[in-house]
Amino acid sequence: MDFIKTYAEQITNSLDDLLTLDDVLELIEKPRFDDQGDLAFPCFTLAKQLRKSPVQIAQEIASKIDHPYFEKIEANGPYVNCFLNKSLASQKIFQTILKEKSHYGSLALGNGKTITIDFSSPNIAKPFSMGHLRSTVIGNALANIAEKCGYEAIRINHLGDWGTQFGKLIVAYKLWGNEELVKAQPIKELLSLYVKFHEEAESDPDLENEARKWFKWLEEGNSEAQNLWKWFRDESLHEFTKIYSLLNVHFDSYNGEAFYNDKMDDTIQLIKKKGLLTLSDGAQVVELKEYDFPPCLIMKKDGATLYATRDITAALYRKETYQFDKALYVVGQEQSLHFKQVFLVLEKMGYNWAKGMVHIPFGFILKDGKKMSTRKGKVVLLDEVIAEAIQMAKMNIEDKNPNLENKEEVAHMVGVGAIIFHDLKNERQNSVEFSLEEMIKFEGTTGPYVQYTHARACSILRKADNDHKYSVTSGLNDDYSWPVIKLLMEFTTVIEKSFVHYEPSQIAKYLLDLSKEFNKYYSHVKILSNESGMESRLALVEATTIILKEGLRLLGLKAPDEM
Ligand code: ARG
Repeated sequence: MDFIKTYAEQITNSLDDLLTLDDVLELIEKPRFDDQGDLAFPCFTLAKQLRKSPVQIAQEIASKIDHPYFEKIEANGPYVNCFLNKSLASQKIFQTILKEKSHYGSLALGNGKTITIDFSSPNIAKPFSMGHLRSTVIGNALANIAEKCGYEAIRINHLGDWGTQFGKLIVAYKLWGNEELVKAQPIKELLSLYVKFHEEAESDPDLENEARKWFKWLEEGNSEAQNLWKWFRDESLHEFTKIYSLLNVHFDSYNGEAFYNDKMDDTIQLIKKKGLLTLSDGAQVVELKEYDFPPCLIMKKDGATLYATRDITAALYRKETYQFDKALYVVGQEQSLHFKQVFLVLEKMGYNWAKGMVHIPFGFILKDGKKMSTRKGKVVLLDEVIAEAIQMAKMNIEDKNPNLENKEEVAHMVGVGAIIFHDLKNERQNSVEFSLEEMIKFEGTTGPYVQYTHARACSILRKADNDHKYSVTSGLNDDYSWPVIKLLMEFTTVIEKSFVHYEPSQIAKYLLDLSKEFNKYYSHVKILSNESGMESRLALVEATTIILKEGLRLLGLKAPDEM
């Protein structure tokens, strides 16, 4: 069915194999304007080799190509423009999508390979920040996209569940804590204990010593300290899990920082054995001068290990456990230096596989242009934000479709979908302005708009009521269907691009385009009329529902059939 490939083959033949098929495929472009056709081949690069002008080359190639897939081949200056045979192309694409259903667009590039994705990774006893929300949403989409590309994706939540803050928390809890309160609202309560600790410590410096003592005990395995730590961890994790289930996100592993406590000695010995450990101001470091990077701290003067030591250990453990080909870390851009250092240390240790490790940074969430924070007093609790989005979605639904049966369920899909889509529709490095009013709208560039388009298409199919059994014996060749059909043909390429660039936004933008073109089609064409071609028109509608639903799924959104 591959029209592009056929075009590329024809060009390769016409050039007597002067270029390889892959070269030609690489060169083929999508023209910017409709009158330039559907595909274009630029002839500039050939000019030198052939000692002819690109214009002349274009004419020669155009005269040699002829195939039923193409309606017209035209030399236009230095380009060879190709106009696809609309009827044939649409017929083929409908048949393929209706047959493959949600599997359409699957790729083999990751077959037999594993990818680990470290994402979300909030810190125990601290609120789930907006940064963690972005990491969760982007990481989950990348995991879905990787699976669509054939990879086995391992979703890892590298919980921040270790560190000196636990000494402080234990002291604060023993002095002022209340079991019931912690159980009722763990994060809120633990946070306020933490804040109180710092307030009190200002006038009572002895508290800091107490905290250090308790953290040391914790590290040594003191059972009271261990039990409290475990309890804090369980309660916090329980609360995080509520957010994950609202967002419909799951993990294969919750092995966080603490998991590596008993594995770091080996790492340090290994680095030492490789002769990479040097002493600097009493601390053990790996020099990265040759890469123009500051040294990576491995062990402090007092023997304490660091964030980087844990990540190096985690990488070794994950390589051994999962044999990953790629390892992604979806973490804010403020940790770029940290990940560069970790990757370079592994490379210096001689691990070639470190080349498959990638830090995936992202921008901030802003509110009125300022960084939105979940810290210090003005805590925005994420589950409250999500609940509000669901409530607003419900009001919209009441308004548009008061008789809808499963309103609650649909409001949940739409409210959560709005938040996720709003995050993913922009390139991840950009910051996102957080506006519930904007993201929840049923029109414009929102998740609900795509979901609504999908539901609308589903309702046409319900009306047609023919059990979705079409014999697509012919295609369409009108002007309104063509932009939709062209987009349907592009789905696979979009998935591949979004994976290669780790950019879910490519899929989000594509879904907005497809929705827009489909809605145009819907408002100009009578789909259910008795005029000939109804089967093909319905095939277009059904193919669109399949792609919209699958695209939304990749981003982490549900697509209700009715809303
Ligand atoms: N817990 C860290 C934070 O909140 C993020 C951890 C990211 N993952 C990692 N392997 N370092 O900043």
